[in-house]
Amino acid sequence: MYFVANWKMYGNLSSLNTLDKVIRFSKSKEIKGGRLIYCPPNTLISSFAKKFNNCQIGIGGQNCHESKDYGAHTGHVNSRMLKNIGAHFVIIGHSENRKQGESDKLINLKIKSALEAKLKVIFCIGETLSEKRKKKTRSILSKQIKIGLKNIKNKSNIFIAYEPVWAIGSGIIPKSYDLFKTIEFIKSKFRDKLPKVLYGGSVNPENITNLKKINNIDGFLIGGASQSAKKFIDIVKKTY
Ligand code: G3H
Repeated sequence: MYFVANWKMYGNLSSLNTLDKVIRFSKSKEIKGGRLIYCPPNTLISSFAKKFNNCQIGIGGQNCHESKDYGAHTGHVNSRMLKNIGAHFVIIGHSENRKQGESDKLINLKIKSALEAKLKVIFCIGETLSEKRKKKTRSILSKQIKIGLKNIKNKSNIFIAYEPVWAIGSGIIPKSYDLFKTIEFIKSKFRDKLPKVLYGGSVNPENITNLKKINNIDGFLIGGASQSAKKFIDIVKKTY
């Protein structure tokens, strides 16, 4: 099982101290095979990489520019730069960035550039509340997958993160059966090797007890709760 901590635009150098607990946990038997990945803001990736030097915790960026080359793109960072400072993963297509105008086509370019830089991609997909109400969830997910992964033959380094937009930061999670069926639907879109599918949206130490029972979920993308080392560790412990 994968546990991805997405810190979004939170955290500073003093947050590094909170990681000691997680590092100890990652080296203990209690981790029981769980794989931890931290995606801090870009400003902290390098420091996280140093901190995690002697442990198995992965590090990722939260987004990247679509260009694999360096260039005049003020304020942006590309996948090569992320790789260069110690990232192994990158989140692409998060709904908070889609909301700012990222299209499926742009996301496709970003994924391609990240794979070329030898990063593993956590590809986020999910429907909004209004799309859900109009019963468009499956068509939206199909479109996001189809365009987002267009012309990408080798998908072995791609994880899908299903994040219903209405579940992010709201404290509301999908009904277990609905979530099971949606994840089954997502996996059915892949003919050869099935991708790992993570669930994201308001995961916390309380609701993990129900979420872990959904047996086609391969892990979790955790926002708010991941900023607390205690909550993050609790989520992992309660999953097993
Ligand atoms: O990337 C993480 C997701 O957006 C979920 O965030 O756990 O704060 O709802 P959340």
